Amino acid sequence: MTVKCLGYLGVQTPDPASWEPFGTGVLGLAVTAKGDDGTLYLRADERRHRLAIHPGEDSRIRYAGWEVADEAGLTAMTERLNGAGVSWTEGDREECVSRGVERFVRFADPAGIPHEVFYGAVVTYDPFVPGRPMSGFVTGQQGLGHIVFIVPDAKAAHEFYTKAMGFKLSDIVDTAFHTPGYFYHCNSRHHSIAVLEVPGVAGLHHLMLEVNALDDVGIGYDLVKQGGYPLSMELGRHSTDQMVSFYVVSPAGFEIEYGWGGRQVDDETWHVVRADRGEIWGHKIVGAGLPDTVKPVAAG
Ligand SMILES: [Fe+2]
Repeated sequence: MTVKCLGYLGVQTPDPASWEPFGTGVLGLAVTAKGDDGTLYLRADERRHRLAIHPGEDSRIRYAGWEVADEAGLTAMTERLNGAGVSWTEGDREECVSRGVERFVRFADPAGIPHEVFYGAVVTYDPFVPGRPMSGFVTGQQGLGHIVFIVPDAKAAHEFYTKAMGFKLSDIVDTAFHTPGYFYHCNSRHHSIAVLEVPGVAGLHHLMLEVNALDDVGIGYDLVKQGGYPLSMELGRHSTDQMVSFYVVSPAGFEIEYGWGGRQVDDETWHVVRADRGEIWGHKIVGAGLPDTVKPVAAG
């Protein structure tokens, strides 16, 4: 038994409030609540929240939350971690309340990227009303979206994500500026996680949010430009997952890929391939390099 999907993401940044007009007015997420400490909680569907923007000294990932079905699933994951020699600790009551889950455990990948596995997310029966007029997000069994990490050692990451966490390799892509990229799935979404190797650094590169209509992407693209938010990659279509998307640097340092039309995979028929490029068209790089959420790591 392995993780079923990406459930939530927590990041920190000096000014969480700066995320609100971007998250709602551009992306179409909705504010659930603001914590006493200034944390901004945002929803994308029936879950109480999917994204938590915490206050912190710098911009970095706090945790990526991976969902299992139930308590037995959590036990199976901790046994899997034990078998792979990965140490983990259990979240306390207060932390579970903050995450909006019944229970979770935390651990880190070989580069120190923090992960959590949880079950029992809080759902709300208040209808989801997007923060701007749009058709909503593709979530459900495919989870929140996908996240991409920069890691200093893709081989070590591959061992960890496949053996300790149970992800399946979808494909390998020779990308334009980080070579190569490894893409992994845990449900029908083409990838829920990917890693790109860059020596000496590690951290969150982007969160991909998939919307229900191509026009939501196009209108979002216009809003990014009207709002003066820094684009990182222009509109384009990826090769293997076929997502039509653009990349924008969010006010918390990490990038958002905002996309539509992602391919789904079926393990019965799927073959791993190595793609000779990351894009079919577009995705011209216009940004200034790696996001602030990618940090130097100690040489090992
Ligand atoms: Fe992506």
